Amino acid sequence: DWTMAAFREEAIGRIREQVGDGRVICGLSGGVDSAVAAVLIHEAIGDQLTCILVDHGLMRMNEAREVVDLFRGHYNIPLIDVDASDTFISALEGVSDPERKRKIIGSLFIDVFQEEAGRIGTDGKGEPQFLAQGTLYPDVIESVSFTGGPSVTIKSHHNVGGLPERMNLKLVEPLRELFKDEVRALGRELGLPDAFVGRHPFPGPGLAIRCPGGITREKLEILRKADAIYLDEIRKAGLYDAIWQAFAVLLPVQTVGVMGDGRTYDFVCALRAVTSVDGMTADFFHYDMDFLGAAATRIINEVKGINRVVYDVTSKPPGTIEWE
Ligand code: XMP
Repeated sequence: DWTMAAFREEAIGRIREQVGDGRVICGLSGGVDSAVAAVLIHEAIGDQLTCILVDHGLMRMNEAREVVDLFRGHYNIPLIDVDASDTFISALEGVSDPERKRKIIGSLFIDVFQEEAGRIGTDGKGEPQFLAQGTLYPDVIESVSFTGGPSVTIKSHHNVGGLPERMNLKLVEPLRELFKDEVRALGRELGLPDAFVGRHPFPGPGLAIRCPGGITREKLEILRKADAIYLDEIRKAGLYDAIWQAFAVLLPVQTVGVMGDGRTYDFVCALRAVTSVDGMTADFFHYDMDFLGAAATRIINEVKGINRVVYDVTSKPPGTIEWE
């Protein structure tokens, strides 16, 4: 892609100019944006970059491992990965308000990240001065206002807000002018695998906001399995790239069912899929009913704890993409 080749060169020049011989840390979320930012920055300044992946235990099936493998195995980019799932999940115990969940996750994330970042400075190669983020153009806009009026916060999207000031770090945001499709093109230009670059967006607070109400390890495990089956069915049907975002939601509702000759009383799983250009507005995806039926059957047969599946036909607005 000619445009992205030019952007890549320009961006590399800008990063070198901004960073000089300073040290940069970058939080990887498992998503495309932070990964593309990291690969681009690594290309510009090599091992002056260190990445940190904080596994909050709220990622999808295998997600953390895939990113670690990609970065260590394929790119050889210095990466620290921290399993902080116990800390996050116990802090979220009994919390059901969506914004409180986001705040808890956001602030814990900063604590863990800061601790790891502080450790980096003790390796003799100096303290980091810069924090890299995969902020996109819509993130810049959306933090000003979105679906609601100018002063209404619908959801507080967490990044590592607050951290730059606390640690006295300057921000490096090489993707600030780009839309999602451009970031994907840039990722391909940088040689990231197609399957990775084409990944659906995933929210920072992860599965915690796809489990309305209180979360538990068991619920997260049920949700993770249902979500993996759903995405597997989508990929097999060749629909993955036609959808902006698809995921399962585990509802805090139990209903009666019958399996074999037994009564069941298990959770309801809602399936969501939307098309969108930038996540600001979205339409629900029009599946063929046979697809939905087959996905529902597989989820109910293979996931203990779910006995009913429903499909969400709400667009944005009035709904949001995530349920919380
Ligand atoms: P909503 O649910 O607001 O989502 O329609 C729009 C896009 O943003 C993602 N999203 C989040 N991303 N932190 C994030 O990093 C969050 O708290 C958050 N909430 C929603 C959502 O997945 C969708 O792509």
